[in-house]
Amino acid sequence: LAATVVLDPGAVVAPVSRRTFGSFVEHMGRCVYTGIYEPGHPQADEDGFRTDVLALTRELGVTMVRYPGGNFVSGYRWEDGIGPAAQRPRRRDLAWHSIETNQVGIDEFARWAAKADVEIMYAVNLGTRGVQEALDVHEYVNHAEGTQLSELRRANGAAKPYGITLWCLGNELDGPWQTGHKTAQEYGLLAAATARALRSAEPGLELVACGSSGSSMPTFGTWEATVLEHAYDVVDYVSCHAYYEELDGDLGSFLASAVDMDHFVDSIVATADSVGARLRSKKKINISFDEWNVWYLSRFQGQAPAADWAVAPRVIEDEYNVADAVVVGNLLISLLRHSDRVTAACQAQLVNVIAPIRSEPGGPAWRQTIFHPFAKTAALARGSVLHTRLDSPTYATARHGEVAVVDAVATYDSEDGDLVIFAVNRDQTDSVELTVDLHLFKADLRLAEAWTLTDEDLRATNTQEQPDRVTPVPAERVTVDGSTLRVVLPRVSWSAIRLH
Ligand code: AHR
Repeated sequence: LAATVVLDPGAVVAPVSRRTFGSFVEHMGRCVYTGIYEPGHPQADEDGFRTDVLALTRELGVTMVRYPGGNFVSGYRWEDGIGPAAQRPRRRDLAWHSIETNQVGIDEFARWAAKADVEIMYAVNLGTRGVQEALDVHEYVNHAEGTQLSELRRANGAAKPYGITLWCLGNELDGPWQTGHKTAQEYGLLAAATARALRSAEPGLELVACGSSGSSMPTFGTWEATVLEHAYDVVDYVSCHAYYEELDGDLGSFLASAVDMDHFVDSIVATADSVGARLRSKKKINISFDEWNVWYLSRFQGQAPAADWAVAPRVIEDEYNVADAVVVGNLLISLLRHSDRVTAACQAQLVNVIAPIRSEPGGPAWRQTIFHPFAKTAALARGSVLHTRLDSPTYATARHGEVAVVDAVATYDSEDGDLVIFAVNRDQTDSVELTVDLHLFKADLRLAEAWTLTDEDLRATNTQEQPDRVTPVPAERVTVDGSTLRVVLPRVSWSAIRLH
């Protein structure tokens, strides 16, 4: 098979937003406890944070982390997690039917985030709570000094405010499973009131209204339209959440999951812009794709619930294979392609819970297959995203119709001259020779590095025993000849090629 891409350094979509490489830490399962935090672990630091997980987080290239939920946040009292640890209450977490010990709260998380060198994206509880509690947590984390809650933070050891800029106004309130689930009208009014209050406290905040929890929600589209009719002027983003899995053994559809993500983004951009047009607004609402990943959700839904009211139970610790990694790489291609409107995104989640990093209590931490395309994309995508003119063979899928075999995106850093092409081959049997036409670039582009992730066994995984079974390897069949790059993309593979 053969495919072609034409690239033009002047055909820029948008700058690469560093916030595209966000992740998510929810108080769920073992993401926090025995994930990022495990006092007593041989590799725990003086604050109880696992230094092995911290090192992998840095290697992953995560830039921003959403916290503390997720469904968890819709019943969370942030003040349970501050002050002397021994006095913090144990609470029921209704979202995951576990016990929250509150040994980690915002002060600990901010300390971890500083060590991981990531920006915090903070979600407030608009499920069981409202405007006042959002203002309270804002006062605690961002107000400098001289008020009750800012002085409490200082007394708890943080002399300086955390300066959190990006705030989620609740989580998935369109979902009937959400504690405090609301209609679009109810949520739109609450989100707008909360946004106005937070802005009055600190005008420069960037605020994210909840969009749909998935494109199959019955209220998809109308939810966003109603919410934005109330909140358009006072929010900056609307969120999207999407999880993909192979269903009914249909690998072809699964490999084309990014087609659904493209459609999801395009639909929400169109919806937001139509509200903006009706309101005669010059402002554009961007998209925060703040939960995305592969998640074997149907397996989880078919399982008996984890032991009720346990502390940090094992919940949705999906083990990812080669095909999953190719899909994750492709979802990043989709997010990058939409960099003009998707300027923040979070892979859900960071550790253990549907995560690129796995860790065992008292034991090692390792990289799942999906770690690799994320880490390479975060490291290599620089400068601006370019429009890709792609000509590819197609194949038929049950879920997404006729789709391209090859998907690709490119970034170009005009200052240092790096051009990077990210590409997937979704064909299950044949390799594809991808030809990239570079005649519009300077003449002396040379191959700097090229990586491919694939395997004979598409179900191969990385485990505690074999943590490096699946890794990207240097691509072998790649050449740059004058103004043409040729690369052979093996069947079911993800690749990154950097020219300089
Ligand atoms: O990431 C797991 C869960 O998925 C989150 O808690 C929720 O927001 C979503 O439904």
